[in-house]
Amino acid sequence: MKFFVDTAEIDAIAELNELGMVDGVTTNPSLIMKSGRDILEVTKEICDLVDGPVSAEVVSLEADEMIAEGRKLATIADNIAVKVPLTWAGLKACKTLSDEGNMVNVTLCFSANQALIAAKAGATFISPFIGRLDDINLDGMELIADIRDIYDNYGFETQILAASIRSVNHMSDAAKIGADVATAPPAVIKKLADHPLTDAGLAAFMKDWEKTGQKIL
Ligand code: G3P
Repeated sequence: MKFFVDTAEIDAIAELNELGMVDGVTTNPSLIMKSGRDILEVTKEICDLVDGPVSAEVVSLEADEMIAEGRKLATIADNIAVKVPLTWAGLKACKTLSDEGNMVNVTLCFSANQALIAAKAGATFISPFIGRLDDINLDGMELIADIRDIYDNYGFETQILAASIRSVNHMSDAAKIGADVATAPPAVIKKLADHPLTDAGLAAFMKDWEKTGQKIL
């Protein structure tokens, strides 16, 4: 499973990138707002830092304007994936931008049927939002599994990009189901290394090592 980082914070991306944990980045209007940065400038910096796809989202609600915005975002760098919402206007923009050779990430997906039509419109990535479905007492992970089944049934090449990930369990569950990509906030990715038995085991090893009086260096 590829790891995308769901943030527009350059320092957080750079830190995880050095560890080989960044296969791509996803942003959205809320994350750009939180960064306090200009969308074109910060997106360019992210694209320079990261080799993989960097999602940058259009903000118009009309297809023609989405297409124009998407074309402009795509000029930032070769690794831009234009992000469009899962509406008919967004799907029209997806089809056009994808036919023009751009990567397209269709976002705000909350049903298997939405994922099906996004694949038919040529989406490179489909972004089902797990956490927001869990928030309203539905099962976000069941949606990932349904989309996996549907895409495998018909050989769709659209990659399932599990999004709105809030916990380490979301990460491992998405990986077990076979999501192609998971995009998560930096804090969730950093928690993946944590285990109390690792901490306890390391403390015991250090205590015993001290008793030997030895040094390696
Ligand atoms: O990738 C989508 C993500 O940014 C949404 O996450 O936690 O706001 O639902 P959340």
